[in-house]
Amino acid sequence: MRLPPYDKFPIVSDDKVMLRQIQLSDINDIIEISFYDSIQATTLTQAVEMQAKINTDYSNGNSIHWGIVDKLTNKIVGTCGYYRGLDKGEGELGCVLLPQYRGQGYMTNALILAIEFGINNIGLKRIWAATTKQNEKAIKLIEKLNFIKIADLNDNEVEYELKQDLNLTENKINAYR
Ligand SMILES: CC(C)(COP(=O)(O)OP(=O)(O)OC[C@H]1O[C@@H](n2cnc3c(N)ncnc32)[C@H](O)[C@@H]1OP(=O)(O)O)[C@@H](O)C(=O)NCCC(=O)NCCS
Repeated sequence: MRLPPYDKFPIVSDDKVMLRQIQLSDINDIIEISFYDSIQATTLTQAVEMQAKINTDYSNGNSIHWGIVDKLTNKIVGTCGYYRGLDKGEGELGCVLLPQYRGQGYMTNALILAIEFGINNIGLKRIWAATTKQNEKAIKLIEKLNFIKIADLNDNEVEYELKQDLNLTENKINAYR
């Protein structure tokens, strides 16, 4: 296991997107998708405070939160990362796109990079995600990436887990390359 923080904040990319650390100068663009403890920011000040907490979680080894950048335009299109469980070898994967960048494949690419980083660099043994039953877009996205439903949770939520067969996952991931 190699938990955060790292000497250098990890940057990973493919031909479409780059995952990198969120800078103060990015925050104005991502206020509406800034969340902490399930609370959504409504002001720049709130979003900046949330980012500070996220940075502390990273420094404490509990989380890694990337900004997703479109390599063509250099614009930030969303965020993704692992938000708990890293010390136990588990990662809860979370993600959100700015509304204007949905339906264009950005998150598929971003999550493949995050999954590969989680398995190969952090050494995660389990990757999971939780969402509401009604969140069809999120469910479609993670099922495409080889997650299967493992539990119904409280508050109308469902838990999905990345299938343990890493060869199968890699094959599935490679099919999207
Ligand atoms: C969940 C969420 C990230 C999914 O976003 P998304 O845009 O559907 O996902 P992707 O970026 O991977 O895009 C896939 C869609 O783009 C389409 N697409 C277009 N061009 C594409 C391309 N070049 N490559 C892949 N997909 C492409 C796909 O067909 C797919 O659309 P479909 O679902 O209508 O078939 C988004 O709905 C969101 O931010 N929701 C709010 C936050 C949230 O619910 N997070 C999940 C918590 S676990």
